[in-house]
Amino acid sequence: MEKIAIYPGSFDPVTNGHIDIIKRGCRLFDKVIVAVLMNSQKNHLFSMEERLYMLKKSLRDMPNIELDSFGGLLVDYAEKKNANAVLRGMRVLSDFDYEFQMALMNRKLNRNIQTVFLMSGLKWIFTSSSIIKEAARFGGDINNMVPAIVEEKLKEKFRAMG
Ligand code: COA
Repeated sequence: MEKIAIYPGSFDPVTNGHIDIIKRGCRLFDKVIVAVLMNSQKNHLFSMEERLYMLKKSLRDMPNIELDSFGGLLVDYAEKKNANAVLRGMRVLSDFDYEFQMALMNRKLNRNIQTVFLMSGLKWIFTSSSIIKEAARFGGDINNMVPAIVEEKLKEKFRAMG
């Protein structure tokens, strides 16, 4: 049986911390489906199309990746894609409560789908999309924290916003 994992998130925008988890996930699974959540409660800086474009550019050298978007329950989407795992990165202790809660809820909703956690690389432990956006908004150096295409799009976006 093919081992397929879903790596879900908002990816507003994708960071090197996400890429690190995806790369390591690709070594564990036959296929990793990077799935961008639609209709989240969050106020996004980038549209769905922009987020998918940046992911596509950043992941283009990885063969066993599929890019997609999804709405509704994650476990329903996973089942539809024949995935048996959800891949999540764990950064700092503060992630634990939320991740644990989500993993338990997903398990209650569908026992066939396992949540697999990878510890974030040390370099990315304290990064997040929001903190990187905040730094970029005020002209801070975000080089090496995001793929080149993301750095470019962030600069473009904040320039356009004045
Ligand atoms: N490196 C750097 N940053 C990371 C990271 C890593 N390895 N992993 C996560 N992050 C950051 C993200 O950039 C994001 O930052 P932000 O809040 O500043 O934007 C933050 O951690 C949250 O991560 P994300 O992975 O995008 O999670 P989310 O909370 O936005 O979405 C879903 C989580 C999509 C898995 C969840 O909302 C979901 O499954 N929704 C569908 C409905 C559902 O089934 N719910 C669960 C059962 S009720």
